[in-house]
Amino acid sequence: MSFKDKIDLNRLPRHVAVIMDGNGRWAKKQGRLRTFGHESGVTSVRETAEAAAELGIENLTLYAFSTENWNRPRHEVEALMHLLIRTINNEMKTLNQNNIRLFAIGNLKALNKNTYKHLLKAIDDTKTNARMNLILALSYSSHDEIVEAAREIAQKVKNNELAVEDINDNTISKHLYTKDFPDPELLIRTSGEYRISNFLMWQLAYAELYFTPKLWPDFRREDFYEAIVNFQCRERRFGRTSEQVSEKVKL
Ligand code: IPE
Ligand code: IPE
Ligand code: MG
Repeated sequence: MSFKDKIDLNRLPRHVAVIMDGNGRWAKKQGRLRTFGHESGVTSVRETAEAAAELGIENLTLYAFSTENWNRPRHEVEALMHLLIRTINNEMKTLNQNNIRLFAIGNLKALNKNTYKHLLKAIDDTKTNARMNLILALSYSSHDEIVEAAREIAQKVKNNELAVEDINDNTISKHLYTKDFPDPELLIRTSGEYRISNFLMWQLAYAELYFTPKLWPDFRREDFYEAIVNFQCRERRFGRTSEQVSEKVKL
C-alpha cells in the first residue's frame, strides 16, 4: 500500500517548504563530483512538484540556493547557476502541463544577469497557471529578508505612512518576500541534518518539522507522501492543551 492512500485530502497543508539537502554526499558516496549530485537532484524536484500539485497542495517552496552558498568553490556555484537555467528551460513544458506557476524569493539581483533573465521569463511564462505555486528560494537568507522588511517599515514610519503603534505581526508578514503566500505548515529537510540554515525563520514559527535521512537525489514521490502522512498524524496545538484541541473540553 502506498502512503498516498493514507493521505486525507481534506487536511492537506496549504504550504509545504523543503530544504533539499545532501546532493554532495550522495555524489561522493558513488565517487562522483558534487555537481553530479546537483544534476541528479533535478529528478527529485520534478517528482516532488508533480506529487504536490496532483495532491492539491497550493504552495510548494524549495530551498535551492542560500546566500551562504555563494561561499562555495566558484566552479560549484557556476555549475549550480547553469543547472538552474537548464532546468528552468527544460521544465517549462512540465510546469505548464501541470498548471504550475513559478515564483522566486531571495536576493534575485545577486544572480548573474543571464540566470536572472531566464528566471524572469519563466516566471512570466507561467503566470496564468493556477493549480500550484512553485516558489524557488534563490540566493535566499531569512535574516536578510527580515532586515529588508525592517528597513522598509522604518522608511514608512519616517515618511509618516505608518504609525509605530500600528506595527504588528501582519505588518512584518506583509513586508517579507513571502507576503503573497500563507506560512508553511510543514517543513521537510532531507539528508539527516537537523537545522533550518537561515530558511524562512519568521514564516516557520508554527510549522511542523520533518527530517528524513534520505539524501535529496534519492527523494521520490513516495517519500513526499510519507512526509504528508506523518504531518497528518501530528496534533497541532498552537499553545492550547490536547483536550482543547480535540474538543473534549468546551473552549
Ligand atoms: C543541497 O545539497 C544543494 C545545495 C545546497 C545547493 P548540498 O550541496 O548541500 O549537499 P551536501 O549537504 O554537501 O551533501
Ligand atoms: C541549505 O543547505 C541550503 C539549501 C538546501 C539550498 P546547506 O547544505 O547549504 O546548509 P548547511 O550549510 O548544511 O547548513
Ligand atoms: Mg548541504
